[in-house]
Amino acid sequence: MGTENICKHIAIIMDGNGRWAKKRGMPRTFGHKKGAENVIKITRAMKESGVKYLTLYAFSTENWQRSKDEVDALMQLLNEYLDKEMKEIMENNVRIIFIGEKYMLSKDIQEKMDSLEKESAQNSDLTLCIALSYGSRQEIIAAVQNIAKDVQDGKLSLSDISIENFAERLYTKDVPDPDILIRTSGEQRISNYLLWQLAYTELFFTDTLWPDFNSDELNGIIDTFKSRERRYGKN
Ligand code: FPP
Repeated sequence: MGTENICKHIAIIMDGNGRWAKKRGMPRTFGHKKGAENVIKITRAMKESGVKYLTLYAFSTENWQRSKDEVDALMQLLNEYLDKEMKEIMENNVRIIFIGEKYMLSKDIQEKMDSLEKESAQNSDLTLCIALSYGSRQEIIAAVQNIAKDVQDGKLSLSDISIENFAERLYTKDVPDPDILIRTSGEQRISNYLLWQLAYTELFFTDTLWPDFNSDELNGIIDTFKSRERRYGKN
C-alpha cells in the first residue's frame, strides 16, 4: 500500500476493425487499414508513457478461418507494414519480436520478420511483441512437448519441472508477464491469448473500437492501473 504499481508491459487485443468500417459503410479491410495505422500511433504513445513492453494480437491461429479475401488482405497489409512502418518504428529504438506459428506464414513474411528481429535486437526504449498466427493453447502444447522430450531424454527429471523452466519454453520467454491487458470493442473474452502469461494481469475492457482507441484512453487506463491496490500473491 502507498506505492504506485509500475506498468512495464501492456498486452492488447485490437478488436473492432470490422465494425468500425461497417459503421462507415466501408469494407472490413478498410477497418484493418485504419487499425494498422493506429498500431503506429499507439506504439509511439507507449514509448512516451515509459512502458517497456507492448504485445499486440495482430493475427490469431483462429483468424486463418476467415474468408480467403480477408486473410489475403490482412497478409498484404502486414507485408506492407513490415516493409515501411515497422522499419520506422524500429529506427526509434524499438526492438521488434514476433510470437506465434511462424511456419504458417508465407516465406516472404517470415524473412521480413526474421530480419526485423535481428536488426532491432539491440534497441532498448520499447519491445514491441507482435503476435502473428498466435494461439496460446498451441504455444502451451509446444512447450509441453519440449519439456516432455527433455524428460524422455533424461535431461530433466519429472520433479524438476517448475513454473520457471516451463515458462522458458514459451514464445514469450524473454518478455515479462503483462501488467495490463486491454481488449477493445466491448467483447470480454481472452480468445486464446497469452493464457499462461495473464495469470495475474489486470484486465481492462473498453467499448472503443480499435481504430478509435487513442493515447488519452491508454493513459487513463495506465493511471487507473497505477492507483489500483494489487493483491498479487495474497489472493
Ligand atoms: C479484429 O478486428 C482485428 C484483427 C483480426 C486484426 C488486427 C490487425 C490489425 C490491427 C492490422 C494489422 C496489424 C499490424 C501489427 C500492422 P475484427 O475484424 O475482428 O473486427 P470485428 O470484431 O468488428 O469484426
